[in-house]
Amino acid sequence: MAETLAEAVSRRRTFAIIAHPDAGKTTLTEKLLLFGGAIQLAGEVKAKKDRIQTRSDWMKIERERGISVVTSVMTFEYDGNVFNILDTPGHEDFADDTYRTLTAVDAAVMVIDAAKGIEPRTLKLFEVCRLRDIPIITFVNKMDRESRDPFEILDEVEEKLALDTAPVTWPVGRSKTFCGSYHLADRTFRGSDTQVQPTKIEDAAVVAGNLPENERAAFIEELELAREACRPFDREAFLEGHLTPVFFGSALRNFGVRDLINALGAFAPPPRDQVADVRKVHASEDRMTAFVFKIQANMDPNHRDRIAFARVCSGMLERGMKVRLARTGKQIGLSAPQFFFASQRQLADTAYAGDVVGIPNHGTLRIGDTLTEGEALVFEGVPNFAPEILRRVRLEDAMKAKKLKEALQQMAEEGVVQLFSPEDGSPAIVGVVGALQLDVLKERLSAEYGLPVSFEMSRFSVCRWISSDSPAELDKFVTQRRGDIARDLDGDPVFLAQDAFSLRYEAERYSAIKMVAIKEYH
Ligand code: G4P
Repeated sequence: MAETLAEAVSRRRTFAIIAHPDAGKTTLTEKLLLFGGAIQLAGEVKAKKDRIQTRSDWMKIERERGISVVTSVMTFEYDGNVFNILDTPGHEDFADDTYRTLTAVDAAVMVIDAAKGIEPRTLKLFEVCRLRDIPIITFVNKMDRESRDPFEILDEVEEKLALDTAPVTWPVGRSKTFCGSYHLADRTFRGSDTQVQPTKIEDAAVVAGNLPENERAAFIEELELAREACRPFDREAFLEGHLTPVFFGSALRNFGVRDLINALGAFAPPPRDQVADVRKVHASEDRMTAFVFKIQANMDPNHRDRIAFARVCSGMLERGMKVRLARTGKQIGLSAPQFFFASQRQLADTAYAGDVVGIPNHGTLRIGDTLTEGEALVFEGVPNFAPEILRRVRLEDAMKAKKLKEALQQMAEEGVVQLFSPEDGSPAIVGVVGALQLDVLKERLSAEYGLPVSFEMSRFSVCRWISSDSPAELDKFVTQRRGDIARDLDGDPVFLAQDAFSLRYEAERYSAIKMVAIKEYH
C-alpha cells in the first residue's frame, strides 16, 4: 500500500553533526552511512577526509566542488526511518554557512572527543543550536583512547553548556580495554557495531566479565553509581533542548554508532512545523513549501550554474512541478531537481518535509528564498550575520568595473561574501566573517571571472542593519548620515561605523534607530 504523506513525514530525521575539528565528525559520518547501509566500505566519503588544514588545501577542495555538492546532503534508510545528514563546513571561517545549515535541521549530534571534552568550536555551534532550541544528542567519541572519566565529561557538558545530561549507554572499559556499551535502561550489552542486536544482560557482573579481572569491581561500582546518580532520559526535556542523551563510543573502532542511529530514530523529532510570516506551516500539509538555506556554485565555471539547496517544509516536491518564488512572486519550474539518496539502489524522485533537494539554477534562487505551490508566504529564520571584516575591492583593470559589479553580486547571492553599496555612490564594500573567505573570493574572481583583484582597508570596520519603529526617524538618519549608510543585497540599509566604540556612541545618540548584528533573510 502506498505510503501516506503523514507516514512519509513521520519517518524523516534531518540532522547535522556539530564538532570541534578533529573530534571525529568525518569518521562518524562515514560510519553512520556504513551501518545505515548507504555505503559498502568505510572510506568512501573520501573527499571529506582531505581535511581542511591549510588555505591552499581548501581551494583545491572547493575547486572539486562536484564532490562537495554530493556530500552536502547524505541520506540513508535504516529500520524504517529516512535519515538526512546535512553537512556543515569544517573550517570555522565558514561559520555563516554552518549557521544557515543549522536552520534546516531538526536535531544535531554533538561529537565530543573523550579526552578533550567541550572545545571552543563545539561551544559556539552549540550556542547556535540553542538559539533555535535544536535538540542535541551527544556522542562521546574516542573511548578507545586515553580519555577522561565519563562522570567528568557529563559534568563538563552540564556546566559549560548549561544542559542536563542523561547517559543512555555506559562505556564498558576504557582505552585498550574498551569493548562496548551497556544500555542503562534496557540492560543490554553491545560489543562492536557489527553486532546488530544487543544482548540482554541483567547482571552487571556478567557485563564486567568482558573486562580484565582487575577492572571488574570498579566497573560494577561505576555502573551502579551511573544508575543512581544520573538523570534518566526525558524525551520532553530533550525536545525542548534542555537535556541531551549521551552515548559513548568510538567511531573509528565501530562502537556506539548503532546506538546513536537507534537514538536518532527513536528520540529525534520528525520534521518540525515551520514558522512563516503569515502562519505556521505544518510538515504534513498537502501543499509543498520549501526554503533555500544554501547555494553552491557548480563545477563548470563557464556556465554559471548554481545549486540551491532547499529544505522541504511540507507537502511533496516532485520533478517538473511549478512553484512560486515568494521574493519575486514569479513561477519557476523545477525541471531537474536533484534528490539525494546515498545508496544507489534507491532513486528517489519525490521529497517530503525534512528532505533536501538541490535545485540547479542560473541565479534565480537566493539564500532564504521561500518556494510554495502558490501561497504567498515567507519563511522566517535563515540568518545573516554582520560581517567582522569589511574591505573595498580594488580591480587591477579599471575597465572591468561593470563585470566586477556583476561578479560580486553573484558571489553575494551565493553567500560567499556580503555586499554593501554605499548610498554616496562610492565603490562597493564586501564583508566577510572570516579572513579565509577573502581568499576564496579573490581566487574565484580570478579563476571564474578573469578578474584579478586585491583588497583595501575601508574606513569602516563594523556594520549593523538599521531599522526604526518610525519610518520618518529612519529616513532622517539615513539622510543625515548618508556617508555612513550602505544597502545590502536586498536593499536594506546598514550603518557603517569606524569601530565598535563609535558604533556604541551613535547607537546611544540615535536611540530611535535599532541597530542589529543578525538579520533574518526575507
Ligand atoms: P573531524 O572530521 O571532526 O575533523 O575528525 P576526523 O573524523 O577526521 O577524525 C580526526 C582524527 O581522529 C582522525 O585521525 C581519525 O582517524 C581519528 N578518530 C576519529 N574517531 C576516532 C576514534 O573513535 N578513536 C580514535 N582512536 N581515533 C579516532 P588522523 O590520524 O588525523 O587521520 P587519519 O590519518 O587516521 O585518517
